Amino acid sequence: MKILLTRKLHDFAVKELERRYNVQIHTGKIPIPKSVLISEIKDKDGLICYPYDRIDKDVIDAAPKLKAISTYSVGYDHIDVRYASNNGIVVSYTPEVLTRATADLTIALLLAVFRRIVEGDRLIRKNKWKKIFGPDEFLGTDLYGKTVGIFGVGRIGKEVARRARGFEMNVLYHNRTRLSVKEEKSLGIRYCTLDELFVKSDVVSIHTPHTRETNEIVNLRLFRKMKRTAFLVNTARGKIINEKDLVFALKKKFIAGAGLDVFQKEPISANSPFAKMENVVIMPHSGSSTIETRKEMARICVKNLILSLSRKEPIYQVLLR
Ligand code: DGY
Repeated sequence: MKILLTRKLHDFAVKELERRYNVQIHTGKIPIPKSVLISEIKDKDGLICYPYDRIDKDVIDAAPKLKAISTYSVGYDHIDVRYASNNGIVVSYTPEVLTRATADLTIALLLAVFRRIVEGDRLIRKNKWKKIFGPDEFLGTDLYGKTVGIFGVGRIGKEVARRARGFEMNVLYHNRTRLSVKEEKSLGIRYCTLDELFVKSDVVSIHTPHTRETNEIVNLRLFRKMKRTAFLVNTARGKIINEKDLVFALKKKFIAGAGLDVFQKEPISANSPFAKMENVVIMPHSGSSTIETRKEMARICVKNLILSLSRKEPIYQVLLR
C-alpha cells in the first residue's frame, strides 16, 4: 500500500511505516499546497496529516483509493469527517496523550498574564528596570480565590479544572452537555450558562472544539459582559474567537489581557496586533509541544493508520456526532 505524510514525523515512526508501506513524505512548502496534495494523494491508500492541512471534499475526491486518514492532532476541524466517512474512509486522531501538556500550557498562560511574567522579562531585557519597584508598582493578580471559567469540559478542560483547584481557584464551567452531579462534585466545579461564565469569571479559558456552532462564538457580545479585570486564555482553536472583537476589547480595556496559543490564521507575525500589546502573552500553537507528548502522538498516529489500513479499529477513531 502507498501512504503520504504531509510532513516528516519522528524517525522511529517513519521506520515503522516504511516496514509496511511505500511511504512518500512531502518535503516542500508547509503546509503542503492544495494542488500538490491533490496530485500526490491520487494513488495513496493512507494519509498522515496535521491540523493545518485542509482535507476537504476536493482532496478526498482526488483520492479514489484512500482508506484511512490519521491526523497528528486532537483537533479534526481541518478534515471533512462526514464526507470522508461517506466515502468509506476511516478518520483517526490523537486525543488523551496531549491532555496534560495542553492543560499545563493553559495554566502557564494563566500564570503569565496574572503575574505579568513576559512583561517583566521584557522590561529587564530592555533595560527598563531602573529602580526596585515600590509597594504599588508592577503588580499582578492573585490566583487564590479567583474564578476560572472553563468553556468546554472535555478531557483538557477537566485537567485545567484540576490544576486550577490546586491553586485554590473557584471553577465554573459551561459545556454543551452538563456533567453528572457526581462528576461536578469530584472535580469541584459548578455549571453555569455561557453568559454567566463570562460575567462571573476572572479568567475564561477556552477548551471547546471548533465546530460550525462554536465558530467565533466568543465575540464582542461576551467580551462586553466580562469584568474589566478579567483575562481570556485560549489553547483550543483560534477560530472559536472573533479576533477583531478581541483586539477591540483589549484596546478598549473591556478586559485586562489575554494568553493565546492559537489564532485564526497561523502562523501570526510580529505585525499581529496581539504582538504589540503588553497585556497579551502569545505562544506559537504549542499546547502539545513537549518531547514526551509529541513522541507519543507519533506512536499513536502511526498505530491508528496501521490498524485502519488493516481494517481493524484504530485506537482513536473520529466518530460522527
Ligand atoms: C491538536 O492536537 O489539535 C493541537 O492543536 C496541537 O496541534
